Amino acid sequence: MAIIHRTADRAAQRVSGSNRRKRQTYFRVEESQVIFHHYFSLEFELATTLAGAIAMLPDLEAKCELSHHLHSAMLRARDMRARLRDFLVSDAERKVLPQWKNFVRHLMTAKDDVTLLGALYRVIRPAQYRAYSLHARYTLPVNDAPTKELLEFHLPALKRDIEWGTDYLKRKEEQGRVGDPVFDQQIREHLVALGGIFGVRPPADAPPIPEYPEWQYPAEMALEETFTIRSADRYTLPDWPEYEAIPTAYTHFTELPVIDIVGSIVYDGRKYDMPFDYYMEFIRQMWDEARHTMMGFERLKAFGVDPYSVPIPVGHYAVWTSLSLLHRLASLTQVGEACSFEPKRAWVAAAWKRNDPLSALEHEYDIVDERTHVTFGSRWIKHLMQITSEQRDVKTVVQDADWEFREKINELRKQKGEKWVEDLGQRFMGCGTNTSPVSLAPALDGIPNIIA
Ligand SMILES: [Fe+2]
Ligand SMILES: [Fe+2]
Repeated sequence: MAIIHRTADRAAQRVSGSNRRKRQTYFRVEESQVIFHHYFSLEFELATTLAGAIAMLPDLEAKCELSHHLHSAMLRARDMRARLRDFLVSDAERKVLPQWKNFVRHLMTAKDDVTLLGALYRVIRPAQYRAYSLHARYTLPVNDAPTKELLEFHLPALKRDIEWGTDYLKRKEEQGRVGDPVFDQQIREHLVALGGIFGVRPPADAPPIPEYPEWQYPAEMALEETFTIRSADRYTLPDWPEYEAIPTAYTHFTELPVIDIVGSIVYDGRKYDMPFDYYMEFIRQMWDEARHTMMGFERLKAFGVDPYSVPIPVGHYAVWTSLSLLHRLASLTQVGEACSFEPKRAWVAAAWKRNDPLSALEHEYDIVDERTHVTFGSRWIKHLMQITSEQRDVKTVVQDADWEFREKINELRKQKGEKWVEDLGQRFMGCGTNTSPVSLAPALDGIPNIIA
């Protein structure tokens, strides 16, 4: 690898008269700064874009696993950003190198989910793994120990990510979905033309790279066919066993579309040049929602309800992503999530009383996560209102957002032949006021309609 320098320390031999030849490899500080800038740019572009791409992956497994791995990738990006600051590059998210933006746009031209994941797991992630391993091995172990330790610390999670992706693609292949080797090759050639993951010294004879268009997440979320009912909203089915924890496990499991919705929140932050912590927090929330979905999945199965045969409210994705980013954040976090604590605490208490610890713990841990989601929401709503010079106050924004969601979901229920109302009632006056079905239990259809 041309970028790595080697020395036999001839100066020391000359001065000391010793024959001892200490061989050493190294990167210069200036090179380290440039290389880290490339690393960060690609990691950041991938994490914040692929969050939006969760909605184009039909498989529940892929949605949940990718959310988890993107969270690990973001922890890696956070540490790289801190190291970049040591090298005097601050606010790296505002200085993303344009060639990596274009590279990820190229990746997003993949024609379907398997092609996208194929290029990610056969080309990009392994190339990152090789580059980081090499860097850790060849940099000065004492002088540049923070770099070495950072890379070594994050390599195991990247390895787990690649192992999952490889295994998943193998299983897809067994089902007859092989991805696109031509696309893999195009992405590989693009990467080589940029100088690889290090991003330096691109080959002189590399062909010119086209400018790729900005990508947009889909208007409808993809969902595997195994799920038999795609609904506008949540509703219970009469053939479920009679047990108090089943509707609450169902509510939890059907946070499934919230994974995709939070992915859209991450992706749309890019349009407003949000600070790094915005992406960090919402990628964490995306993973939390994946965990909530999995917790509900496990409970439903344990109670003998097939999670694949319950109504999945894909309408939540369609409606929430049709709202502006500000209204999406306001309705989701300040109504759906903020007002869910009271009923959830009641669920926890009832579950302990019934001697059903796993149902109690399902919601106890959920509350821990949801508290942070509400905080993330209120922090970034204020920020967004400030940078867009919003004239309304927060209370009115939340009220308008809630109303818009209710109007749209009601319309969608009507279209899909689900229960809907003539009169939407009163505008939202705050949690505990019984003024929004988004936030209160029981909701319009008689089940807890807590959203996220
Ligand atoms: Fe949740
Ligand atoms: Fe949440």
